[in-house]
Amino acid sequence: MASKKPSITEVVLRDGQQSLIATRMKTEDMIPVLPLLDKVGYSSLEVWGGATYDCCLRFLNENPWDRLKVFKKHFKKTQLQMLLRGKNLVGYKEYDDTVISLFIKNAAKSGINIFRIFDSLNDINNIKSSIEYVNREGENSQGTICYTTSPVHNEKYWLNLSKNIEDIGAKSLAIKDMAGLLRPNVGYDLIKKLKKNLNIPVYLHTHSTTGLADATNLKAYEAGVDNIDTSISSFSNLYAHTATESFISMIYKDDENPFDMSLLTRIAEHFQSIRPKYKQYEGSMRGVDINMLLYQVPGGMLSILEKQLVDLKKQHRLKDLIDEIPRIREDVGFVPLVTPSSQIVGAQALMNVLDGERYKTLNKEFIDLVNGKYGKIPGTIDKKLLNKIDKLDIKDDQEITFSIENEKSEFKKFCVSNNIKDFSNKETDLLNYILFPKEAQDYYLSLNKHTYNDIVGLQEGFGLYID
Ligand code: CO
Repeated sequence: MASKKPSITEVVLRDGQQSLIATRMKTEDMIPVLPLLDKVGYSSLEVWGGATYDCCLRFLNENPWDRLKVFKKHFKKTQLQMLLRGKNLVGYKEYDDTVISLFIKNAAKSGINIFRIFDSLNDINNIKSSIEYVNREGENSQGTICYTTSPVHNEKYWLNLSKNIEDIGAKSLAIKDMAGLLRPNVGYDLIKKLKKNLNIPVYLHTHSTTGLADATNLKAYEAGVDNIDTSISSFSNLYAHTATESFISMIYKDDENPFDMSLLTRIAEHFQSIRPKYKQYEGSMRGVDINMLLYQVPGGMLSILEKQLVDLKKQHRLKDLIDEIPRIREDVGFVPLVTPSSQIVGAQALMNVLDGERYKTLNKEFIDLVNGKYGKIPGTIDKKLLNKIDKLDIKDDQEITFSIENEKSEFKKFCVSNNIKDFSNKETDLLNYILFPKEAQDYYLSLNKHTYNDIVGLQEGFGLYID
């Protein structure tokens, strides 16, 4: 029996370029094809997320909100989608509800329609408020399960979690398989059951890293999935996703294909032509990487750790490190490895290997993870590790009372003392300052080097802004 064809989300502007060229694509390299992308007939374009926001300010000297404004201007019929790290928003720590609500209000106002909201521990309490705020804005709150494999992450676990996500008000559900772990038949069974148990649409997001994605996406279609994420062919596969054109060819016969393949080819050619500019950010993987299937270490995480070992002239310890990560993961109750838990587990693994003794040095974030500061751990924590951390005399962080008004006056002070235009009255600029204080300060200082007309140009859109 033929299943209903899933709609397609194009991810090249966010996850495609994040996975292949470390999120370095500049807005000016996107602009030429935005009108074409809008014509394709995608259900949505994923355009924004934690890494894109961070990289805009940190590396590209761009205001992430201005980039969004450019998208909004060009996308007349296609919905815009972003990835949100639950209470961490686009950052790495937990934010106050006032910031979460201010952020979501402004993102919705700036054009985001679908908010894919996840928590690295799959703790529902960490995504609840974001879902509520997105619903208040009348946009699509997409609750997310971060897929992983472990003795606690069985099908029953996923079905329960998904039902809870629907019950707290999410308007759709995403299976986010950041490491490409979801096997085709497991995905098929899971999606079949989700479709039976839930009333909300089910989206699938998986990565090609392990070589399973094409088959998993096809089986998901057969199981009746509502939406699949793909990336245009010239920015597909490797650490990224199934190619858009390939997936379309898998599910449509030529004579029934509603997509204009020559339009997609023009888009692919554009991205093909700009890709060499970002050569230095390409990963070293060739073919597929089975480390994730064997060791449960995501490819991206492995390459960062490998680089750290090389910098420390300890590259011969790589195998020890690869072995240590799953052991730590088991000790801390099988947390999925995704931002920020991937960084926390990776850093602790590095300490354990370099010290030659497990948990001799404990990173603060790791202690916080064990102590539940990041949320509820899926499994149980190793008793010995728990005892060790209990014995430490850890002074609790002084609770700093957060207030948006304080942040605003700090930001104003910064602008005045640096003799730059006062940006503190604009909510999106204030959010930049709250979320990435150091990077935002550098960014606003850099604007000072341009004339006022340049700044006006930047606010209007990137076409006028010349670096
Ligand atoms: Co992804």
